[in-house]
Amino acid sequence: VSDWEGVRLHVVTGKGGTGKTTVAGALALALSAGGRRVLLAEVEQRQGLAQLFDVAPLGYQEQRIAAAAGDGEVYALAIDAREAMHEYLTMFYRLGRAGRALDRLGFVDFATTIAPGLRDVLVVGKTYEATRRRGTAGYVYDAIVLDAPPTGRIVRFLDVTTPVSSLARVGPIGRQASAITDVIHSPRTAVHVVALLEDMPVQETIDAVAELRATHIPIGSIIVNQVQTSYLRSHELTAARRGQLDRTAIANGLRAAGLPDGDTTINALSKMAADHAEQVMVAKRQRSALAKLNRPTYELPRLSAGIDPTALYELASTLAEQGAT
Ligand SMILES: Nc1ncnc2c1ncn2[C@@H]1O[C@H](COP(=O)(O)OP(=O)(O)OP(=O)(O)O)[C@@H](O)[C@H]1O
Ligand SMILES: [Mg+2]
Repeated sequence: VSDWEGVRLHVVTGKGGTGKTTVAGALALALSAGGRRVLLAEVEQRQGLAQLFDVAPLGYQEQRIAAAAGDGEVYALAIDAREAMHEYLTMFYRLGRAGRALDRLGFVDFATTIAPGLRDVLVVGKTYEATRRRGTAGYVYDAIVLDAPPTGRIVRFLDVTTPVSSLARVGPIGRQASAITDVIHSPRTAVHVVALLEDMPVQETIDAVAELRATHIPIGSIIVNQVQTSYLRSHELTAARRGQLDRTAIANGLRAAGLPDGDTTINALSKMAADHAEQVMVAKRQRSALAKLNRPTYELPRLSAGIDPTALYELASTLAEQGAT
């Protein structure tokens, strides 16, 4: 069962450091399983995707970076505003070499520094172009996944008409911007928000969802990342929080494991258990706060060994099992 039938553009945002790049990679793999072709794009020139998939640095040229089950393929690129500008000039004005001359004259720097938001229009425009590109057998890509800017900047990033309307309401740029806006606001787009079960990331998620709703940008799922397993049962969690764990039982456990069973060790373990219990309680509260957002919600475990390409496939199948395809 797929939650995202008909969605062509998946935008992944979230508070900084929550796992946007990781989740975007896992989602691209999940979406490509079963023979589909997915394009994964990053926009901040940080080479996060190359690191994640352990491949050479990405450029503006789309290249195949991974295979998925059943002949699926993931392609990727790093979208650079300057390259997008060249392409744009070539496509829309057939300027070609003249475009590069403009660049040498500093026009691109002029345009991207002077016109507020123009850089974003170019970057989002490139993504838009990829969602519509057709080959002989239909769409070139079945879906595009965008490793997007963090929640604080996502609406401004996607809402490309505002900067453009003051710049070029009419003419090809204006038409391009309103075509982009149409896709961004249509059911073909889903903005997924990555969250952690902690106070700040959850608050940012709630704020971002409100802001996206206010601007009528379709919200996809909430992807709760780095979920930690609870090692204790509910009555043990309560005891741990109150510092009332059975010290004799802990000492017996330590001895059985061939470890020192002195007071220092027992105290340290009790403290760790109390912290863990506290964290589990916060997580429970935050999980119900996220549930109130009323969006499909997926959970990904914190993988203690970190994220290598193998771990990424693991996260992808966890997403797929929950319907995120
Ligand atoms: N489920 C997970 N389990 C373990 N480690 C994770 C998981 N998800 C992400 N990480 C790790 O957390 C760190 C941040 O992840 P990532 O780079 O994907 O976040 P980000 O939101 O893209 O960050 P930034 O805001 O800097 O772009 C990385 O070191 C990554 O390997
Ligand atoms: Mg990132």
